[in-house]
Parts: sequence; structure tokens; C-alpha cells
Amino acid sequence: MQTEYCQRREQLMARIGNGTAIFCSAPTTVMHNDVKYIYRQDSDFFYLTGFNEAKAVAILAPHHEEYRFILFVQPKDQEKEVWSGYRCGVDAAKGIYGADEAYPIAELDEKLPQFLEKADRIYYHIGRDRDFNDTILKHYQCLLHTYPKRGTGPIAIEDTSSILHSLRLHKSKTELDLMRQAADIAVEAHNHALQITAPGRYEYEIQAEIEYIFRLRGGMGPAYPSIVAAGTNACVLHYIENNCQMQENELLLIDAGCAYGYYNSDITRTFPIGGKFTPEQKALYEIVLEAQKQAIEEVQAGNPFTAPHNTAVRILTEGLVELGLLKGEIDKLIEEEKYKPFYMHRTSHWLGLDVHDVGVYQHGENPQLLQPGQVLTIEPGLYIVPGTKPAADQPDIDARWVGIGIRIEDDVLVSADGYEVLTAGVPKEVKDLER
Ligand code: GLY
Ligand code: MN
Ligand code: MN
Repeated sequence: MQTEYCQRREQLMARIGNGTAIFCSAPTTVMHNDVKYIYRQDSDFFYLTGFNEAKAVAILAPHHEEYRFILFVQPKDQEKEVWSGYRCGVDAAKGIYGADEAYPIAELDEKLPQFLEKADRIYYHIGRDRDFNDTILKHYQCLLHTYPKRGTGPIAIEDTSSILHSLRLHKSKTELDLMRQAADIAVEAHNHALQITAPGRYEYEIQAEIEYIFRLRGGMGPAYPSIVAAGTNACVLHYIENNCQMQENELLLIDAGCAYGYYNSDITRTFPIGGKFTPEQKALYEIVLEAQKQAIEEVQAGNPFTAPHNTAVRILTEGLVELGLLKGEIDKLIEEEKYKPFYMHRTSHWLGLDVHDVGVYQHGENPQLLQPGQVLTIEPGLYIVPGTKPAADQPDIDARWVGIGIRIEDDVLVSADGYEVLTAGVPKEVKDLER
């Protein structure tokens, strides 16, 4: 694995020429008082180093005579480690993580200038850690001030994202292996949830069993707060209370993914709690299912990123017209976004180290074209949100539809000759969801 981190650093260094790139680890975050959330490394930092401790800085200086990869880390300290956990320390930062040189983090201010003085620019992403942003600006300003004396030094700060995130967008075999694991575990958890869901049980019971499987199978835990939403709760897109009792005639929407080796899966299924769809639930479900399947067919190298969304929107709009929830000419309804009260989110996002992974979707007016090695979600839905007022030219919403919320989501890899659904192991056909 260290070889792959090294290759990633080399790829980045080949693109920054005489620049110096600086990466700061994620800050620790407080849960309450002096209790911290479980530490999760910044994804860019992890992608380039595999190093998972806080209070660390990584420098890539391809032009430096001696050291091209430098790590600043917390030094070994037995007393502190007894309280807050193992530290790799300065020596292992070189030995294990392959740094050409490593220093205690306390020496950052003193040592950093030597890696910047001959750089023509600093590559840095202004991030969450405001103190660290200030540190970088302070060094930059200082070097600008003394530039006339040397005639060298950085004269710009450039955001690293456009280079690094275009690398992260294309998953290597190693990354795909981890993503398949994350997907497989979530598939098992969703299949288990299908088995154990029953009227009278509570949403949190299903959440608990799903997340039990995530950890039992060696996952880090949920990739994001799990959504287990019965009935009308499914009309709240980010419903995470998960505290209601499930009723016979409701649908259950589960949006839950697993983090494994820092990579994520993201699956949604919606199915009848009592084992049988009502006619209205089934009618809406079949529209969403068709939209999802047709959108997946659009996942082909060379297609625009927007193709799956556009296809999903068309099928959803046609379906809403057939059911009498919308009326009018399909193209016009789409152009005027009349479907939006029922489908208010996008169909896809990139997936990887981040659930909503990095990488651009659009170059100005032009959407990104899909390329092999990219992974995206396909997740259309329909939500008949209580209280929705139809537009003046649209029909009233019959009460029988109100409160139904449906989403179906899979993780799809763009392959050389089409696509591969990484999460295909969870059923979504009506016949497989009814009992
Ligand atoms: N669960 C987050 C999402 O589907 O984007
Ligand atoms: Mn998603
Ligand atoms: Mn999701």
C-alpha cells in the first residue's frame, strides 16, 4: 500500500513543477466538554500518505535538493499516549510512511520556510482549520516581503484541488477493492434489514442491526448518519431521528452505507414494511425503479455526467403525468422544472474517500464526461411531501398519494465497456420486496 501512496505523491509532484504543496491533517472535533469524536483523517491527506493521526502536516517539494516528501507529526510521548492513544512518532514517519525527512509538529514554523523559499508557488487548499490557514498566509507574506532580497520564492497560492481531485476521481484497483468491500458489507446489511423489518418494530432497531453488521464485518462504521425512515419520514431527505414505530401499510426507506478502509458505499432501498405495496406505493415505486434502471444504462464512458439525471427526470416526469400528479407537455414540464416539488435532488454524486466525493461535475457549460474508473451513485426518488402546494397550472394532489417517499440508490462504476453496479446484491424488483 505504501507503494501506492508513493505513486500518488509522484503523480501530484509531476504536476506541480517548482511548486510546494502543503496538506494539513483534519482537526479533532469535540462531541461535548472534553470528549472528542472518533478521529477521521482528512481525505486528501490520507490519499497521499495513509497517515491517520491528527496534528500533522505533509509537504511535497519536488524541487527541493534533499527532501521531496516531508512529514511533521506529533512526537512519541509515553505519558500522553497512555491517555489518548498510540502515536507513530517522528522516526516511524520516515520508516513506515516513507517520508524523506520528518520533524516534530512543533518545529513547523522553523522548518517550513526552507521548503518554500525556492518554490514558485504554494499549492494549498484553504481549509477548515483557520489557524493553519493563518500559518500559511503568514509564511507566504513573510517570503513575499523578503522576495526582493532573493529573487526567488512563491508569488502565488494556488488551490491544490483541481490537480489532486482529478486524480482522486479515478479509482485505482486498490481503491476499487476497498470500495467493493464497503459495498459488499452494506449489501449484506440491507439484505438483513429486509429480513427483520416488521410492523411494530422501531426504525432504530433496524439502524442498530445495520450498523452492527458494518462493524462486525470490519467496517469503520456508517459512511454517513444512517437514514431509516418509515412512512412520511421518508419525505425528509436527511431524516436521521430514526425513532418511530413502523406501521403495517407504510414503506420503509433505508439510506445507509458503510465506510471500509476509508472508502464508502451509499445504498438506498424502499420496501413495504408489511410485505405488500399499496396500489399507490407500487405505482410510484415502479416509476422510480424504471427511472433508476434507465439512468444506470446511461453510465457509459463518454456520456456526460448529466445523462443519468436527465433520463431519470424524463421518466419520473412521464410517470407523474400518467398518474395525474402533473399535467402538460413533457418537454415543457421538464424545462419549467414542474417535477421539482416531487423530485428536488440530483440523481448522482461521485463516491470514494468522501461520500459526496471530490471532482468537478461541470466545466463551465460542459458537463464532465464519464470515464472508466469513476464511481457515481444513481439515486432517483419521488416524494409526495405533505403540505406541497401544486403550481397554479397543476392538479391538486389527491390525499391518497400524500406522505409516500421513495428513493432507490446504487453505486455504479464506469467500466471500459459500460458499467458495473457495485451494490447489485440488494433486491429492488417489486416481486423480490413483497412477501
Ligand atoms: N446518503 C447520502 C446521499 O445519498 O447522498
Ligand atoms: Mn448518495
Ligand atoms: Mn444515500
